Amino acid sequence: MKRILPVLAVWTLAVVLPARAQQVDIEQLAETCRGCHGDSENLPVDPTYPIIAGQEFYYLYVQLRDFKSGLRENETMQGVVADLDRETLKAIAQYWSEKPWPKTNFPAPSEKDVRLAEQAVTSAECTACHLGDFRGSSRVPRLKNQQPGYLEKTMKDMKEQRRRNSPNMMALFKTFPDEWIEALARYLAAL
Ligand code: HEC
Ligand code: HEC
Repeated sequence: MKRILPVLAVWTLAVVLPARAQQVDIEQLAETCRGCHGDSENLPVDPTYPIIAGQEFYYLYVQLRDFKSGLRENETMQGVVADLDRETLKAIAQYWSEKPWPKTNFPAPSEKDVRLAEQAVTSAECTACHLGDFRGSSRVPRLKNQQPGYLEKTMKDMKEQRRRNSPNMMALFKTFPDEWIEALARYLAAL
């Protein structure tokens, strides 16, 4: 019995004092995000910033986690997540994933864009992962109606290995001429 007691004592402490979760007001935190990323009514403030309202929950969470660990580098986002714990990252990812995607009206791609983009989509079987209408699923992001400026930037970042958190996508875009990437960005944005 004597030997069990300290174990019991530790166990009791663990129950009485649960690991202190960060107390963050998610609505208030979302205001910060909104300032750059917009929301279900407003597009992001810069064409190279991604829409996050309506994006897949698990994809959002993985990106936030990767910014926090430095696996995905971006000074702005690394600053945003620096002091947020895992539970808070999950909660804010959940918050945005439950919002509707904003209405977009990006210009229709040219015939040449469509031809190049369809060639790229067929050759790399993008839809095997991103699904038929590029709506995404779980860890695979939605690309349909994403901001064209962001799509182009992030695909080029992966190609040039500035965005290094996805070895598969880096390897894929390395084989793509810039012309394909630019056509894909306009094509996906206007789907
Ligand atoms: C000061 C502007 C700014 C603020 C505030 C901000 N972000 Fe970002 N965020 C960015 C930029 C710029 C990028 C694109 C980084 C890149 O190009 O790799 C980004 C990228 C992201 C991505 C990656 C999306 C994708 O499709 O890969 C997620 C997720 C994200 N932000 C979530 C958030 C959340 C959640 C908040 C609020 C807690 C937030 N951001 C606040 C500027 C901001
Ligand atoms: C084998 C599955 C797979 C295939 C094939 C694939 N992708 Fe992806 N893609 C992913 C995953 C998973 C991610 C998320 C990577 C991460 O977590 O950073 C991603 C990320 C992306 C992103 C970043 C989106 C964002 O919000 O930052 C773009 C753009 C993209 N893919 C475009 C494409 C295009 C275009 C094709 C075809 C030419 C393609 N992908 C083929 C699985 C795939």
